[in-house]
Amino acid sequence: MRVFNSIVDLREYLAAFRQENKSIGLVPTMGYLHKGHISLIDKSVQENDITVLSIYVNPTQFGPNEDYGKYPSNIENDKKLAQKAGADIVFIPDNTIMYSNNHLTYVTVDKLTDNLCGQSRPTHFRGVTTIVTKLFNIVQPHRAYFGQKDAQQALVIKKMVKDLNMPVDIITCPIVREKDGLALSSRNAYLNNDERKQAPILYQSLQKSKSYIENGERSSSVIKNIIKEMIGEKPSTNIDYISIVSEDTLEDINLIKGNILIALAVKIGNTRLIDNLRMEVM
Ligand code: PAJ
Repeated sequence: MRVFNSIVDLREYLAAFRQENKSIGLVPTMGYLHKGHISLIDKSVQENDITVLSIYVNPTQFGPNEDYGKYPSNIENDKKLAQKAGADIVFIPDNTIMYSNNHLTYVTVDKLTDNLCGQSRPTHFRGVTTIVTKLFNIVQPHRAYFGQKDAQQALVIKKMVKDLNMPVDIITCPIVREKDGLALSSRNAYLNNDERKQAPILYQSLQKSKSYIENGERSSSVIKNIIKEMIGEKPSTNIDYISIVSEDTLEDINLIKGNILIALAVKIGNTRLIDNLRMEVM
């Protein structure tokens, strides 16, 4: 496995593989790797000749009062995990490489970024789509891998790629969870023991909603209330949003029908966690 910090060196190294018609898969991450990230690397290794993992905590996707300064990091361990998973290349740029002092260009996706996480994190997706575009331009992958854990992010990137004719296939991979249902996240490291015990309530409330919908409930407000009550029983929780949206538009729906996404963002103590469930409802 090769590690690169420089764009020029990475491009030169990749050019040789491109000449040999090797397929390139990209897994963009912010590091502090867990099994969710590893599942994306696994999928890329299966589907491509060369897998590039990028590790970069992107400042432009964090709001002013968010956790940019304290985002967890363990590069040495990440490299070991990446190698074990079969990544061929790890790209670890720094801010001086990714953003010049005079960076003026951003990529934005309208509408799909207004709802859900876009409401409480108004500049977040602009940062994500900008950095992902830069990574696509640097690596020029055939395929790029994203997790369903960040469902809105995956849909926004798919839309960006389609609208801007970017020559890359976006592959969305399932949410990897702990045994008790908590979706893996680098931010779970912030939870203390007590908060960690409360955190599976996100998954549990999604599962409860699923069974209500399977048994015929079609009212979004009824389902949202069930989730709200379940989560509210845990003392350290503070709900950011509970939304039921169409998977195509990410707009709120009143009647549960078609391809829907139930999405949650909940603070547990000071840690903001997200989770979601997709359903196809007749
Ligand atoms: P990060 O939070 O490190 O996540 C990197 C990728 O791993 C994302 O596609 C995310 O959806 C996926 N992922 C995280 N937890 C997962 C889980 N439990 N199961 C499956 N996949 C999971 O998302 C970002 O970084 C950044 O916004 C990035 C796309 C790298 C742009 O900076």
